[in-house]
Amino acid sequence: MSQSDDKPISRQTSLIHSAYVPPAGFAAFPPAIHHASTVLFKDVAAMRARSWLDKSSYTYGLHGTPTSFTLEARLAEIEGGKHCLLVPSGLAAITLIDLALLKSGDDVLIPDNAYSPNRDLGQWLSQQFGISVRLYDPLIGAQITDLIQENTRLIWTESPGSVTMEVPDLPAICAAAKARGVLVALDNTWSAGLALNGFAHGVDIVMQALTKFQSGGSDVLMGAVTTCDDNLHTRLQLAHMRLGFGVGMDDVYLVLRNLPSLKLRFEAHDQSARQLATWLKQRPEIVQVLHPAMEDHPGHAIWKRDFSGAGGLFSVIFDERFSEAQTDHFVDSLRLFKIGFSWGGAHSLCLPYRVAQMRQHWPHRGTLVRFYIGLEEVQDLIADIEQAFSRMLEVVAS
Ligand SMILES: Cc1ncc(COP(=O)(O)O)c(C=O)c1O
Repeated sequence: MSQSDDKPISRQTSLIHSAYVPPAGFAAFPPAIHHASTVLFKDVAAMRARSWLDKSSYTYGLHGTPTSFTLEARLAEIEGGKHCLLVPSGLAAITLIDLALLKSGDDVLIPDNAYSPNRDLGQWLSQQFGISVRLYDPLIGAQITDLIQENTRLIWTESPGSVTMEVPDLPAICAAAKARGVLVALDNTWSAGLALNGFAHGVDIVMQALTKFQSGGSDVLMGAVTTCDDNLHTRLQLAHMRLGFGVGMDDVYLVLRNLPSLKLRFEAHDQSARQLATWLKQRPEIVQVLHPAMEDHPGHAIWKRDFSGAGGLFSVIFDERFSEAQTDHFVDSLRLFKIGFSWGGAHSLCLPYRVAQMRQHWPHRGTLVRFYIGLEEVQDLIADIEQAFSRMLEVVAS
């Protein structure tokens, strides 16, 4: 490259400006990873005519590159929606929805079994931003109409509750909300957007923690907010821009790379989880298995009506004769199941929860332990739980 025909540019500048342009027409299955903060305009007129709200062009890395636009389009398709926005985590997706739709003086209803940082965010919004936040019984159904006030703007739902596994009557809640002009948001992470179509049941906004099944590798933190409505999407886009939410394109690529196997992985987790849940139901140590696909689960009828699958996450209630120290010892004794937050990868996980401290009304006295079933062989997982039960019983006997 030269500045003019007779004056070549210096070595330093040539390290920055190169005349080489790769040939067009490259085709391959993996999507290209387009990194960018600065996005180039062909001239000043193009820069002045830019619109970051319109995804038919590019303006700045924060608003997206072809890589993130591709993932957003594919996620909207999976969820049965029209628009999607990527954010840095599942919790950021919840935050985006709250901050886009609520202002001081507004009221929001959150189920009292919701992902606890969602409730914690609500408490913060209430303490610092003058937003009224009320918790409701997730099984309230159509009676939610009695809780809707003049200033209620948003109703959160999570189906099922990702620790205690209640299955809300989404169509009933959405119908009541719609009748009063209130928006409904759904945390659809449990079903990966595959087993529950929130929009078909009347939900306005669906969020996903892509950190879980979509990533599938226990390595990426990311979230998504999907809508069908153009105006709602614009409100979310404005908040997204104002909050400065961006995602790394290498991470976006990792999610794109794992999307083709999403359904196969989800179904494999589902099949193994049902086998384990069925086995656990026969065990004397367990008084209840909280898995919506089990026929005796209180939410089974609604789950069967609204869902087409179940994924790998469920909980059990230990018999109350086992102390918390003993059930902790059970979890500590597991070898294949690891102790850690999040889920959606190949490795099985297990966590005990102190639900009575989190819920207003919780009928069980025994410890709740949540299992996430990975992609290991089910018989190996059963053997692992069996040996951990034995270890727990040895402690009981001594
Ligand atoms: C149901 C549910 N929603 C949202 C989140 C938040 O996702 P992230 O960890 O990406 O913030 C989680 C994470 O555990 C979750 O389980």
